[in-house]
Amino acid sequence: MTGELMNWYDLNARDLPWRGIHDAYRTWVSEIMLQQTRVDTVIPYYHAFLRRFPDLKSLAAASQEEVLKSWEGLGYYSRARNLHRGAQQILAQYTGLLPADPDQLVKICGIGRYTAGAIASIAYDLPVTAVDGNVIRVFSRLAGITENASLPSTLEQIDKLDRQYMDLSRPGDYNQALMDLGATICVPGTPDCDRCPLKEECSAFRTGHPEDFPCLPDKKPPKPFDFDVFLITD
Ligand code: ADE
Repeated sequence: MTGELMNWYDLNARDLPWRGIHDAYRTWVSEIMLQQTRVDTVIPYYHAFLRRFPDLKSLAAASQEEVLKSWEGLGYYSRARNLHRGAQQILAQYTGLLPADPDQLVKICGIGRYTAGAIASIAYDLPVTAVDGNVIRVFSRLAGITENASLPSTLEQIDKLDRQYMDLSRPGDYNQALMDLGATICVPGTPDCDRCPLKEECSAFRTGHPEDFPCLPDKKPPKPFDFDVFLITD
């Protein structure tokens, strides 16, 4: 699975402005913006935000009003307030450098398990999973998980599979490959299995009804954004 996924990613990775850099501040800003918000919406905000606050120090020194101004139109404004408070916290506690340890990252305002995993893996190359709605969907289908995907025990099962399959030489790329697969091929509703690099080994594909996964009791008819809103834990 891992080889197929990574080969696919090497050919099909989305060209996103927060990729190909090793700067934990930029990874952090992008991951906070991407919570509950689509990639296309985030891109112009990401550029403008980094022009205005090019590093953590400049963000920490700004007024909350200025930070909220840069966030105007992006929604979920508590993210901007937490980012601002988080920058001040990191400056005071970690002399301005984001920690790499996920257990320390989750103590920073606005950073939950998913975002901690994304920062640790993408910015620091640590083998830490980042399980969001996309990843839950991909593994639910791949492994044909029939348990309720919103239960903690099911999420633990998915996290374990994710750790087993992780490409330890490229943890950040591996996590982003899963995100891209979930966002472009293994999408909610009807996935594009013909183009999927994992279809040969996918249990849900074999059932002929991949859209039945992940299993969520009393599932409403899926809308493209539903699962992410429902499953994001940060
Ligand atoms: N969604 C959340 N984080 C992402 C990332 N790093 N790349 C693409 N989509 C994402």
